[in-house]
Amino acid sequence: MTERSELAPEILDYYLRGREDGRLRSGRGRLEFWRTQDVLRRVLPPAPARVLDVGGASGVHAEWLAADGYRVEVVDPVPMHVEQAAALPGVVARVGDARALEAADGSVDAVLLLGPLYHLTDRADRVRALAEARRVVRPGGVVAAATISRWAAVHDMIRLGRYTEEPVRRVADDSARDGLLRGDERTGFTTAYFHDPDEITAEFADAGLPDARRYALEGVFSLYAEVDEWLDDPERRGLLLDVARRSEGEPTLLGIAGHMLTVAHA
Ligand SMILES: C[S@@+](CC[C@H](N)C(=O)[O-])C[C@H]1O[C@@H](n2cnc3c(N)ncnc32)[C@H](O)[C@@H]1O
Repeated sequence: MTERSELAPEILDYYLRGREDGRLRSGRGRLEFWRTQDVLRRVLPPAPARVLDVGGASGVHAEWLAADGYRVEVVDPVPMHVEQAAALPGVVARVGDARALEAADGSVDAVLLLGPLYHLTDRADRVRALAEARRVVRPGGVVAAATISRWAAVHDMIRLGRYTEEPVRRVADDSARDGLLRGDERTGFTTAYFHDPDEITAEFADAGLPDARRYALEGVFSLYAEVDEWLDDPERRGLLLDVARRSEGEPTLLGIAGHMLTVAHA
């Protein structure tokens, strides 16, 4: 296992470029954002519940959660993210690591892990992060964790027209083989772990969170070339979000979605 509070240097460098704050606010990133919001609004306990947003970055979700009346604390290992999140109205933020949370046992109503699990490349670290979430949430509280799907890099590189480049194809193919995206600029991301859909429920169970439910976030829709135009147009956006919601639990589509959200009750 890596040192608990240690963020791999290439992951820190990647986030210090400051692109995370805009990622979900424009383009096809909006589909991930709106779908995450849609699922969370259905599964979270009602406001003013206490939500610990671990790996919350600059607070892109903390912002609307606070506006919805939740008491939100962001925990993130990147000090720049913590400064950005702490500047948001109603949001508290601190530097920390998903594997060793400072929060007391049973002290929050919900824990979000929308990022840490796909940057923890050792299974033991991911289970530890989930077990920490399980520890700090009250009995009956909610743990929700995002994962990136195993074939995401291959799908993205084909969509972006980069899969024809041999070095890019090798990195993407390797990640589909063993789940590990080896920190490589060529794919536009950093060191990450990409889950098979069935792995994540086993990791939840090993952390004391059985009976987790999985939700496809973007579904297949973020792979369509026209998705931006659909999201720009309120009528077509409504249709897209509606069908994404109706197909979110369809087992045959789970691994196609770029991101999945897995939710369990403590
Ligand atoms: C892609 S961003 C996701 C941000 C936001 N939660 C979202 O859903 O868009 C991943 C975040 O996880 C954070 N992170 C990486 N490793 C972590 C760890 N071990 N503990 C807590 N957060 C971590 C990063 O600093 C980054 O802010």
